[in-house]
Formats: sequence, C-alpha cells, structure tokens
Amino acid sequence: MERVPIQVRVNGVEYRHEVEPRTLLVHYLRETLGLTGTHVGCDTSQCGACTVLLDGKAVKSCTVFAVQADGLEVLTVEGLSHNGLHPIQEGFREKHGLQCGFCTPGMVMAAYALLQEHPNPTEEEIRHYLEGNLCRCTGYQGIVEAIRWAAERMAAQAAD
Ligand code: FES
Ligand code: FES
Repeated sequence: MERVPIQVRVNGVEYRHEVEPRTLLVHYLRETLGLTGTHVGCDTSQCGACTVLLDGKAVKSCTVFAVQADGLEVLTVEGLSHNGLHPIQEGFREKHGLQCGFCTPGMVMAAYALLQEHPNPTEEEIRHYLEGNLCRCTGYQGIVEAIRWAAERMAAQAAD
C-alpha cells in the first residue's frame, strides 16, 4: 500500500516516518515509536484510554490518522514527567485515582488538558471534562480528588 511521509514532534522529539494513510495515530505512537503508555481500551472511540494532546488539545488518538498529525506536536503520558512524576500522576497516587491503571494514562492526559485551560476547576467541571474517559474500577471519586489535588499542587508550584 502507498505510504505517506509525515513529520511529527512527539514529546519534544522530531520524527519522520512513512506511514500508510489508514494508520491511526495511536498505532503510530505505540507500534512505530514504542510509546505504549497510550492505551487502546475499545474499538468504538468511547473509552478515552488513548487520549493524547495534539497541538495542546486533548484528542482520542484512535480517532485521528497519523497523517493528520503531520507537522503537529503530540504530547503523550511519557512526555509529562521530567524529574519524577508530574503532579497529576502524583495526585492519582496520593488520592487512589487508579486501580488496574488501564484508563490512567488517558485520564492523566485529559486532566492535563483540563488544567491547562482551567487551572482551578470545580468538581463539576472535572466530571464534565472527563465524560469521554471511562474507568471500570474506581467510581471516579478518587480521580476527581486526584485532579483537585494536582490543581492545588500546580498552583503552589507556580507561586514559588
Ligand atoms: S481506544 Fe480510543 S477511545 Fe477507546
Ligand atoms: S483504574 Fe481500572 S479502568 Fe480505571
């Protein structure tokens, strides 16, 4: 099958590859780049486990073709932590926001996008924003608390 050249910046690193036009971004990230933190949890575009940021916006990477990311910037869960865990990841640990952890990378990336837009979200705003991300284990309360915890931590760090 015909292959198309793409150039994508992922977690700050520039990549050039040739991909089939039908290749989904999630498969490009996982199989070509080996970034398996982005999960595939469904085949109906409902679960959000595959959430990444594409030019700063949260997208389900199973609904985007890799060629659509040509020339754009992608942030995956691997790109969040620099020296240790990101405050959102710490929040999930502190507030028991995960059990099996399968949904967690997508939740963390959705939370990251939310906190970029709304650094101090209400519980309602958090629940509304996470409607596209399914968790089968936690009942969501720990996830909401984790994101509030992270918002406070990030505000405190910004004030330092
Ligand atoms: S794998 Fe993308 S929404 Fe479920
Ligand atoms: S922690 Fe298991 S699906 Fe969310």
